[in-house]
Formats: sequence, C-alpha cells, structure tokens
Amino acid sequence: MRIAVGSDHAGYVLKEVLAGHLRELGHEVEDLGTHSEEPVDYPLYGAAVGRAVVGGAADLGLCVCGTGMGIGIAANKVDGVRAAVAHDVTTAHLARQHNAANVLCLGGRIVGTEVAKESLEAFLAASPAGGRHSRRVEEIAELETSGTGVVAPQVRGA
Ligand code: RB5
Repeated sequence: MRIAVGSDHAGYVLKEVLAGHLRELGHEVEDLGTHSEEPVDYPLYGAAVGRAVVGGAADLGLCVCGTGMGIGIAANKVDGVRAAVAHDVTTAHLARQHNAANVLCLGGRIVGTEVAKESLEAFLAASPAGGRHSRRVEEIAELETSGTGVVAPQVRGA
C-alpha cells in the first residue's frame, strides 16, 4: 500500500519508527514531514496527509502529534478525510472496518512503540465492512458538502 505519513515535532520520533516499520512490511511511504524535533504547527502536516489521501497520491494516511488529536482534527477538515485517533488494536481495527477511516492518528506522547505498531498493522489489515456502515459513512460525506447532512435522526438497527 502507499501510505502518506506526517507529524509535528511531538510526533516526529514515533512517525520515524512507524515509517520504518511500514517500509519493513513492504509498504510505500510518502513522508510529508516534519523532519526533526524542531517545533512546527501540526495543522500543516495533518492537511498534507489528508490531501495526499483524498487526492489519490496515497491509499491511507498516518498522522502523529503529541496526542494524535490536533493533527487529526486538522486532517478531518479536508473533505473526504476520515481521521481516527486509535491507541489500541481494537479501536484501530474498528475505525477502519466500521468508520472507513482513511487516516490513523497516534499520539507520540501517549502510546508506546509496540502498541502503536500493532494498532497501525490492525488498521491496515482491516477493510471497510460495507452494508449499514457504508450508509453512515455516506451520511458523514453529506455533512461535508451541505453542513447539515441527514434531516433528522432515524431509528435503525445497530
Ligand atoms: C505540541 O506541543 C502538541 O500540542 C501537539 O503535538 C498535539 O499534541 C496537539 O494536539
């Protein structure tokens, strides 16, 4: 797979570790920076990863900042991005399977290296489940263009 990766300074070390891990697993990594622990602003890197994914330069994205939150919020401002913070294997798997997340966000100050690697592997191994989940993902996309989305909540199966 082609994976776009990006981080700020607080996520730099973990981003480097995970980029290396991705390469070892045979993936193609597009490293959009940052390239040191010099302080930078995370929105730029979240947006860059999001644009790479939505624009088709990458299949999926990986964002790392201190918590995973800021860079993920920024990535989610790019239409078509579904960025999810997931610091455990199950959440990472379900983010991809149920939410069709296309960017995984991790916190370099939050999660250990091994859990981060396993969460990333689970994210990449999972596939969007389709069915009722597709409908909900489509409803998310409607929010991007109209800002209002579905008119009213409806009672539906789990
Ligand atoms: C940087 O100090 C830190 O605020 C940033 O990496 C991130 O955690 C924000 O969400």
